[in-house]
Parts: sequence; structure tokens; C-alpha cells
Amino acid sequence: MAERILIKGGTVVNEDCSVISDVYIEDGKIVDVGPELQVPPGARVIDATDRLVLPGGIDTHTHMELAFMGTRAVDDFYIGTKAALAGGTTMILDFVIPQKGKSLVAAYESWRNTADPKVCCDYSLHVAVTWWSEEVKREMETLTKEKGVNSFKMFMAYKDVFMLQDSELYAAFSRCKEIGAIAQVHAENGDLIAEGAKKMLSLGITGPEGHELCRPEEVEAEATQRAITIAHAVNCPLYVVHVMSKSAAKVVSNARREGRVVFGEPIAAGLGTDGTNYWNKEWAHAAGFVMGPPLRPDPSTPGYLMDLLANDDLSVTGTDNCTFSICQKALGKDDFTKIPNGVNGVEDRMSVIWEKGVHSGKMDENRFVAVTSSNAAKIFNMYPQKGRIDRDSDADVVVWDPIMTRKISAKTHHQAVDYNIFEGMECHGVPVVTISRGKVVYENGKLNVSPGHGSFVHRKPFSEFVYKRIRQREQVGRPSAVIREPYQGEVISV
Ligand code: URP
Ligand code: ZN
Ligand code: ZN
Ligand code: ZN
Repeated sequence: MAERILIKGGTVVNEDCSVISDVYIEDGKIVDVGPELQVPPGARVIDATDRLVLPGGIDTHTHMELAFMGTRAVDDFYIGTKAALAGGTTMILDFVIPQKGKSLVAAYESWRNTADPKVCCDYSLHVAVTWWSEEVKREMETLTKEKGVNSFKMFMAYKDVFMLQDSELYAAFSRCKEIGAIAQVHAENGDLIAEGAKKMLSLGITGPEGHELCRPEEVEAEATQRAITIAHAVNCPLYVVHVMSKSAAKVVSNARREGRVVFGEPIAAGLGTDGTNYWNKEWAHAAGFVMGPPLRPDPSTPGYLMDLLANDDLSVTGTDNCTFSICQKALGKDDFTKIPNGVNGVEDRMSVIWEKGVHSGKMDENRFVAVTSSNAAKIFNMYPQKGRIDRDSDADVVVWDPIMTRKISAKTHHQAVDYNIFEGMECHGVPVVTISRGKVVYENGKLNVSPGHGSFVHRKPFSEFVYKRIRQREQVGRPSAVIREPYQGEVISV
């Protein structure tokens, strides 16, 4: 029999309003939202008095079990999505990253086969374009038309591995526009990183601080500006993943003010901690924070990124969850360029953003919902199936206690990684009940979910939220030639 759940007396929070309301769930869907709903026979009642009822979090950026830099991320799709649920996240968007020269569709199928039987929450996939050819161009269309993918990530870093040249970015962005996808960029200048790394090593800087020193903020800001320029040249919507610095965030914010269709994604790590950790005397501590682009040593960075997120200069939040345990990080003990890049976040994102964003007074609970869930659903074309508490929406719901606190620690987290970059952080804002696909999967600190509970979410192209403006600009913004009489005068002979 279908699970029936009535959430009573909570404050339902959407991105546009908060109302005290009951929520009735049946068969994986929200069936009714309203005051004083009757308890249907067989329904389980959850008392949400003094609590908030939020759309489940959507983590826009994860890399579960990614094979990367000589090893494999320890959070697999099972452990990683279970941890997500414990933190109030009910959907992740992970990345298919084909090797250069390899089929995008084959890589997608293989990632589906890996993830489908393991996921505990709903998920979808972005696909990376790591090389360019006519075949890649065709496959991008197959992926959008048949496979539920409407977002493609292009790397401007990881030279010789994933990096594309500007002409290839131009071609890939043009293709995204034709097929109604959103272009995502990892914006860092890969050539400058390669040179910077050689320079640091030649100076005898082999520790994790070298990772930041070889790729300072302007390396990220330059690539961000370049990507925005290329996207604008082809009228393609752009999504900058993991915006890590004040400089890059300012570039995104200025572009939005100039009317560009661009979205910036800060991540939990960048909002909750900073790059001073790379200078920590303990090697393992410092290495734990290595990710690309790096966290920034300017300690005002997290607060600045949060201000921009609160004010819609930045739009959504992910985590870039890509976890390597310390013994894996140690592949780079004598050379920072060999430290596998990646940090945790999928479990703690919601609490970190509540603490640093809402508890601090920078944003209200409605903006919290916008940046943790509904904006992602709108950009990636899943709204209002996801990202909203409303009739007919998916029953991915979190009962949230805004007052309660918890202390983040690797000793208590549900992730497989053996440390936590937020270790010791005290957060207000705790998920007390998580409901995924209409089933209570987490309550009273206990998970109750099996692998395969989640499903792949097909996303259609031409998201209205993104493409209405693009389409109109295509119509009215087309340059036209000046009508003239032909030139009749003399022409020199050559
Ligand atoms: O350090 C990171 N970000 N690892 C994952 C790969 C990527 O660039 O997103
Ligand atoms: Zn990246
Ligand atoms: Zn430490
Ligand atoms: Zn990433």
C-alpha cells in the first residue's frame, strides 16, 4: 500500500512565501497543501509545529565515486546519497566525465549503470564535453533528445586532460544553444595553472599552499570573463560552476548587471570555510582542503560570496562533493600537483548555508529555499516537479528545525571520507525528518533507505527560466546589413 503522510502544523516555505499549512503526501507526490487537512485513513502524522517544511535540497554539483587523479572518490552513489538525505538534500546532479576521444553517450550509459542501482535519492546527470568533433556534436543532441540531459560542462582547466581551447568552447556553446542546453564552465586558465605549478615546485614549494599560489584569484576571474564573453558571442546561457573567489564572483555579478544570461554557483566549501587552511602546519589538514579552483586565503571570501548569493548576484549552491580520504590525498605528499582534488559537502551544505546565510541575517528562509533548491529546479528544468512544496510536486520534503543546532564532525557524519572540512562547526538549522519520493527516509538521526530507492530524473531542453530571454534575443538581436547603392567609383588594381 502507498505510504500516506500528513505533515501537520508546520510553516511551508517556498521561494516566494511562507505559510502555516499542512502537507498531505501519497504515492510519492504532494497531494494537498492547506490549513487543517483531515487525517486520511492509514496516514502517518508528523507534527511540524514550530518547524519549517521545505522543498528537499538539490545539490547541483557532485562527483560520487569519480575516478580522478589516479584514485577514486570514496563516497559512492549509495553512501553519498544516504549522507545527502541525512543533511536534508533529496536530489543530486552528478557529472558524467568522458575521457578525451571517448563517446559521451557510452560514458553516460555507464554512469547510469553505476548510479541507478545505488542511489538513495533522485538524481540527474550533467555531461562533460572534454573534446570536440562532429561525433561529440551529434551525441550532445542525442543526450538532450533521448537521455534527459540539458546541461554540459566544459573545462577551461586540467590542461591535456579535460581542457578545451577557446575555439572548442565556441563550438560547444553554439551547440548548447541550438539544442536548448545550458553551458557550464569550470573557469580557470589551465595554461597559467600549468606554468604556475612548475614555478612553485621550482621554488621548493611542494605543500598544499602551492596549490593556491600557482592559481591565484585572477586565474579564475580571467577564465570566468572569457567564458562569459564567448557565451555572449553565441547567445548561449552560461552557468559558472564552483565560483570560489571574490574576483570571479564580481565578474559574474557585473555580467548579470550588463544583462548577460549567466548564473553563478558557489559551493558549501567556499561559503563555509577558506583557503587559510592550506597554510596549516599539519600536512594532512592542509591537503584535505585541496580542490580546484582552490579555496581563497582572503578570509572575507565566504562572507562576500554569501552576500552575493543573498542578493541574487549568485544563483544556486552545490558542493562539488568529491571526497578522497587522507591516505589518497597522500599521493601528493611530496608534490601538491598530485593531491587528488576534491572536498566533502553533500551532507552539510544545507546546515552550513542556514548557519552562515540565514542565522547570520543575510538571507531569509525563502531565499534559502531559492538557493538550495528552487533556482536549481528552474535552471535545470525540473520546476515545479522539484524545488516546490505544492500540489502535484514530488514529495521530496524536509522538516527543518531552524533553532536546533548540531556540530559537524567526521566522527558523526554519514560520508565515507575520514575527515570533514567543516569539522567543529556549530550550525543552527537541522533536518529532523527527510522525505524522499514520499517515504520517510531519515528521522531522529536515523536513516531508513535502501540502494535504488532514488530514480534518474529526465530533464527536457529549453528550460523556460533560461531560454525565454535567449530566444527573444535571437529574434530581435540579429545584426543586419546596411542597404546601400553599390559603390560605383574607381578600384585600384592589385
Ligand atoms: O577539485 C575538484 N573540483 N574536483 C572535482 C572536479 C571538478 O573540477 O569539478
Ligand atoms: Zn570543476
Ligand atoms: Zn587538523
Ligand atoms: Zn566538480
